[in-house]
Parts: sequence; structure tokens; C-alpha cells
Amino acid sequence: MKSLWIDTAPAIPTDTFVPDASFDTVVVGAGLTGLVTAVLLARGGQRVAVLEARQAGAVTTGNTTAKISLLQGSVVSGVARHHNTGIATEYVNANRQGQDWLLQFCTEAGVSYEVRDAWTYAVTEQGAASIAEETDACRAAGLPVQSTVETELPFRVEAALKLPGQAQFHPLEALGALAAELRRRSGVLVEGARVTDVKHTGDRVRIVTAAGDLDAGSVVLATGIPILDRGGYFAVVKPMRSYAAAFPVAGPAPEGMYLSVDQPAKSLRTAEAGGGTYLLVGGNGHPVGRAAHTRDRLADLSRWAQEHFAVAEARYQWSAQDYQPASAVPYMGELPVLGRRIYAATGFNKWGMTNGVAAALSLSSRILGRPDPAGGLFKARISVPDAVTTVKDNAEAGLQMISGWAGGLARSADAAPGEGLGVVVREGGSPVAVCTVNGITSRRSAICPHLHGILNWNDAEASWDCPLHGSRFTANGELLEGPATRGLDPA
Ligand SMILES: Cc1cc2nc3c(=O)[nH]c(=O)nc-3n(C[C@H](O)[C@H](O)[C@H](O)COP(=O)(O)OP(=O)(O)OC[C@H]3O[C@@H](n4cnc5c(N)ncnc54)[C@H](O)[C@@H]3O)c2cc1C
Ligand code: FES
Repeated sequence: MKSLWIDTAPAIPTDTFVPDASFDTVVVGAGLTGLVTAVLLARGGQRVAVLEARQAGAVTTGNTTAKISLLQGSVVSGVARHHNTGIATEYVNANRQGQDWLLQFCTEAGVSYEVRDAWTYAVTEQGAASIAEETDACRAAGLPVQSTVETELPFRVEAALKLPGQAQFHPLEALGALAAELRRRSGVLVEGARVTDVKHTGDRVRIVTAAGDLDAGSVVLATGIPILDRGGYFAVVKPMRSYAAAFPVAGPAPEGMYLSVDQPAKSLRTAEAGGGTYLLVGGNGHPVGRAAHTRDRLADLSRWAQEHFAVAEARYQWSAQDYQPASAVPYMGELPVLGRRIYAATGFNKWGMTNGVAAALSLSSRILGRPDPAGGLFKARISVPDAVTTVKDNAEAGLQMISGWAGGLARSADAAPGEGLGVVVREGGSPVAVCTVNGITSRRSAICPHLHGILNWNDAEASWDCPLHGSRFTANGELLEGPATRGLDPA
């Protein structure tokens, strides 16, 4: 599976890794958060290196739907409910700063974007109640939303909310322009460099990779979910995976950017890319590693799109994950435990085009010794009740997987699964992940190297996914994403 963005991405020039080189800050991860942070630090006079395990944009930023919107489904009412109107207002303001910065950057760098109305809609009475709550919360937080039932959608809605003047873009064109500015300012971007550890050495830090170490004054982990466990962030975010498809448009399509509040959510926008016009449909999400037959979720998106819109067969289909914060607000700052000069940002809840830039503005200001534009909003809000909720949820998922694995006792390890299938079986007392892809049967340990979750097969993407904190691995055990820093052990 490949996203429309990755297939139509501009070439992004990169640099080679020089072991033992020294920088003011090393940023780990070349998604939107990492590259904006790096550019802001370079503009502040720092020498910056960005180390990317795969390629720039390979993980969530290259597989997003890339709406740059302050209307975010039912997020603002969620923040107000969890905290209060004051925090919800600060959240909206921080996202507005992120949106403004990104659109100004695009304008100055010649990256095109389209201004669009954003819509949140409901087709059920329960959804309409949630829209009413969101309307009040958005207005209280200073967003001039409009209530209406007149939409461009070809079906009746119970309620809808509109915020004019939002935007959408091609996220990899933005990453290309960010990387170009970073390199013009003497920064470096290295791809294929996976960071496996960060160590304090006096008042500096050493960044460890398989190709050697780097030395830096500070490190920013812009890795989606932080790769180092010291902060305990992995315990207060829930990895949520969802699906997207791009359909060539064969008739009228809605101009606006839409998101349903009813579950499973459906997200819509159009895109011009690679010489074609597409309707992008996203949604059908679930916690990573906790859904059987993920293929059906993609098939359902196609069915839904073709039932309602004049579109051809999907030309692109893809999937990605983002991290839902237990406290409803993203986490960012220095890692709380022994994390001096190690900064991280996570929990963007599928709104990282603005939250990721807000994080970059906040983290770069702190590193440069300037006032934080987000004030105290993003201070570590890891409360005990939030942590307990997530740990309980993970424990339940872990138990489910263990009982699933114990069920594997009945299965024979000798019989290869059919093409595209994977199963966890028991061999010599250990869980073993066996799958067949392109006619090759692979066998690896089914124990996640992060914190020992038992993996589950994802048949849409032919991957092994961890239900605890969202690490994912290829059929033959190579690490794709998540907090783990190495692949699966041999069976
Ligand atoms: C399906 C979907 C649709 C979405 N739609 C929207 C939307 O319309 N609007 C919106 O605002 N947000 C949206 N989001 C959310 C948004 O895409 C993300 O929040 C955002 O892209 C996160 O960017 P990031 O830079 O923090 O992470 P990423 O883009 O994931 O970048 C992290 C990078 O770190 C690298 N990395 C990880 N570990 C290491 C390591 N050990 N060493 C070196 N590098 C490492 C990874 O390879 C990766 O490239 C969506 C998310 C999903 C899943
Ligand atoms: S990702 Fe943490 S145990 Fe697998």
C-alpha cells in the first residue's frame, strides 16, 4: 500500500551520516514535527541534524489526510470536558499559531495549499448531540463556527458545523521545502539512521545509532511516540490506526473538508496531485493491533465512497496511526524522568498538521531560551488517573492477546498459513509469529521487543502489530514504527 502523497512526492535531498559529529540539537524523526522544529532551531542560529530511521515523511506525515484545520471533529469539547474552557481556549490558540505558521511558511516557500471550509457532521441523533456540545465548546474557545444542516454531502445529515477559511495541502511538498530550508541554513538531514538510545555525558547528550554516535546539546524526539521509555509517555497515549483511499473523481465532489462524529468516522477532502483529481476518503479506525481482518475496513471505505460519490476504483489505499492522549491535550516538553535536555512531543490525536507545528514552536522556543508561545498548555499533564486508565486498557488488551496466543496451542506450527495470513503459535513454550506473504513463510518471535506485548497479524498491511503501544513490524520482523528500537528476534 502506498499513499497518494508518497507516490507523488518531490525528491528530498539528504546528507550522509558523519559519526562523532557535534550539533547544537539533534532532532530524531523527519515528519512534520521534526522538520519544523529543526528549521525553527536553525533560524534561531543553531546547527541542527535531523536523523530519520526511514525516509522523510515515511510514517504518519506521508500517510495523513493533511487538513490544516482548527475544526477538529469533537476535539475541543473533549478538551473542555477533560479540563475546562480556559485550557480548550489555549488549545485552540496553540493550534491557530501552528496553522498560521505553516500557511505562512507555505506561502513564502512556494508550497501550494487550498483554502477550504471545514465541516463536522452527524447522521445520527447521538452524533447531533455531540455536535451541539462541540458547537458550544468551539464558540466558548473563540472559534466562529456556524451551525447548519445544508452541506454538499449527497445524504441527509442530522446536524453539521462549519468553519470557513481552513486549508489542505500536499504534506510531502511541505516536507521537501522544510528540508531545503534546513540544509540552506547548514543543517543536515540523514535518512536510514535509526536512533537506538540517547545518553547523558556531562552537560551534553550522545545519540546512539548503528552507524555511530552523534554529540549534541539537546535532543528532540519527534518520533510520533517517544522511542525512549524514561518519560512514560507510551503509557498515556493510545495508538490509533486508520485507513484512507484516493479515488479518481468522475463527477461532482464536495469542495469542503468533512469529518463525521459518528463512529466509525469518515473523513473527506479532495486533492490535486500527480496530474489527477482525487476524492480522499479516510476513517474506519481502531486501536493498533486490536482489530481482526483489517482488510475489511479498507474494503468498507471503498464501498462507502462508491455508494455516495461519483468516483472510479481507488487508485491509492493506505493506512497510518497517530496517538490519542489520555488527557485530551498533546504532551510535549523535556522527558519527565531523568530527561534533561531530551525533549519529546506526542499525542496529536490525528490533528498533527497544527498540533505538530504548535509543538515545534513550543519546543524550539524552550531550547532557544525564549518564552514558550503555548504558555503552560503543553506542560507534562501525565495525571495518575489518566495513566491508570491507559495502563488498565493496555492490560486488558495484553490479556486478550495472551489468551489468543494460548488458543494457538491447538494450532499446528507445521502448517504454513495461507497467502496473506499470519498466526501466533506456541513453540517450545514461546509465542511464534508465522505468516505467509508472496509465497514466503516467515517465522519470528511474536514478542514485541519494546515491553513484551504479544503481536497480532494485520492482514491489510501484512504486518505484525503490537496491541500495547503500537510498534509494528514487517512480515519478516523488520521494525516499521512505534516505540520499539529494533526488529523481532528470530523464532
Ligand atoms: C489516517 C490519518 C489521517 C490524519 N489526518 C490528519 C489531518 O487531516 N490533519 C491533521 O492535522 N492531522 C492528521 N493526522 C495526524 C497527523 O498526520 C500526525 O499527527 C502527524 O503527521 C505527526 O507528525 P510527526 O512528525 O509527529 O510524526 P511522523 O510523521 O510519524 O514522523 C516521525 C518520524 O520519526 C521517525 N522515527 C521513529 N523512530 C525513530 C528512530 N528511532 N530513529 C530515527 N527516526 C525515527 C519515523 O520514521 C518518522 O518518519 C492524521 C493521522 C492519521 C493516522
Ligand atoms: S509497543 Fe510497547 S510492548 Fe509493543
